[in-house]
Amino acid sequence: MITKEALMEQAKEALKHAYCPYSKFPVGAAILYRDGRVITGANIENVSFGATSCAERSALFAGASMGYRKGDLMAIAIAGKTEDFLPPCNICRQALVEFCLPTMPVYLLNGLGEILSLELQDLVPYSFTSLSM
Ligand code: THU
Repeated sequence: MITKEALMEQAKEALKHAYCPYSKFPVGAAILYRDGRVITGANIENVSFGATSCAERSALFAGASMGYRKGDLMAIAIAGKTEDFLPPCNICRQALVEFCLPTMPVYLLNGLGEILSLELQDLVPYSFTSLSM
């Protein structure tokens, strides 16, 4: 398994592939899976803004499309170019809840290069996870 610093390096690398001509706000994400694989993603924008995919969902859906499921995800690192720690948007938080355990580490980066380690449940308390009534 790799360190959070190494995972963040992969997120920073993925950021270089961001397609963000509208916002000019590049984001990269790297997800570590149980088998040691890392899958990265970048934000991919669209002239119809709602068709944009955030970096987190780009990585998450790539992994899900390869068969990875809840419990297979060990951690996610998210990299941007913001001064403060860049957190995932709320749509991505809900998307992560579908595939990640509440205790899964989420690593955020700030402009000083510091890494903040949270758990998904810190970002999404009392999350919506079931349709049972
Ligand atoms: N974005 C991400 O990719 N991840 C985040 O956590 C925040 C926002 C993207 C979406 C859009 O392309 C740009 O950043 C500005 O919102």
